[in-house]
Amino acid sequence: MKLACIVGARPNFVKMAALVEEIRRRPSVSCTLIHTGQHYSPEMSGAFFEELEMPPPDVSLDVGPGTTISQTAKMLERLEPALAAAAPDVVVVVGDVNSTLAGAIAASKLGLPVAHVEAGLRSFDRSMPEEINRVITDAVSDFLFVSEPSGERNLLAEGVPRERIFFAGNVMIDTLLRFRSKAERSGVLERLGLAAGGYGVVTLHRPSNVDHAASLGGLVAALQQINRRVPVVFPVHPRTAQMLSGSGLDMAGLRAVAPLGYLDFLCLMSRARLVLTDSGGIQEETTILQVPCLTLRENTERPVTVEQGTNRLVGTDPAKIVAAAEEALDSPPPSGRIPELWDGRAAGRILDVLMSHAKTQSKQSLP
Ligand code: UD1
Repeated sequence: MKLACIVGARPNFVKMAALVEEIRRRPSVSCTLIHTGQHYSPEMSGAFFEELEMPPPDVSLDVGPGTTISQTAKMLERLEPALAAAAPDVVVVVGDVNSTLAGAIAASKLGLPVAHVEAGLRSFDRSMPEEINRVITDAVSDFLFVSEPSGERNLLAEGVPRERIFFAGNVMIDTLLRFRSKAERSGVLERLGLAAGGYGVVTLHRPSNVDHAASLGGLVAALQQINRRVPVVFPVHPRTAQMLSGSGLDMAGLRAVAPLGYLDFLCLMSRARLVLTDSGGIQEETTILQVPCLTLRENTERPVTVEQGTNRLVGTDPAKIVAAAEEALDSPPPSGRIPELWDGRAAGRILDVLMSHAKTQSKQSLP
């Protein structure tokens, strides 16, 4: 079986690493790894390939910086010859970033079967770029691998035939469990002068939170207050850095650092007293690490992390964020449950499904 696996942005690398490792173990499966170049700087891209023990991409499309639309258009244009040359049996896309969308559209237009890993998640908020990517990607996918029960429910409600939906578990958690003990040897706490269990970690990059000085200013003010109780470490995403550099917001006292590598960040999260984030993946990772997570958004496409895990949706009102952080710091750490099939074996289940369909390669024979 020949696969083409498409990645482009930081969370894609973490998820695809699990699939690439599983492919490596199966001699009858080969893979052309295609990197769109959506994320291109060493700290957002190259370092992840090394740390996650992924081979360098076979094909780099180098779309580089640009608006969302121009980047996606370039990806589509460059994916056409790349996918034609790779001639895969199935194209695999992961998550909900622009590279996921471009990969799914290009593959389906070329008549290639599409497998979407992390299908079915819905925030029901169409102002979020990722929600548009999720809905369109799922609409053109042939194999929909869901990571939590809400994914299956959402797809069925949208009319996706049941036989295309596979509850596989969470590949991001495969990677976390694989690298967890290696991450514990990271010296990041010493480097940043932090005591285990005695600090908070924050990440922010959603356009709705960081693209307007007023919204970002409110969040930074809340972090300043929390920082009076525990030191707050803030690895700053490039999108957020752009806004901060021109805004004059008061970052004094916060420990702003450049984006961290995977192992350092995993170590930092695992020993934190509290995590505050607007990321999707971090809601899941903190659930496994059993670290309290406050999600600075009005909705989540990952409800299982709230229902069973350590996640709490607190919104973006600075006063509510500070109150929720105080409450979390005053309470014993929560003991959430581990969601079903978040067991480190999701990639294996996905490859099993794809291999069992590999013998019949025409579109007509798909589920
Ligand atoms: C993207 C994803 C988001 C994911 C996030 C993780 C979409 C719609 N969004 O958001 O779902 O959670 O990645 O990081 O796909 N930049 C750099 N260096 C880089 C990459 C980007 O400086 O290596 C700059 C870009 O030029 C741009 C900004 O950062 O100005 C934002 O990058 P972009 O890829 O548009 O989206 P993210 O905000 O990273």
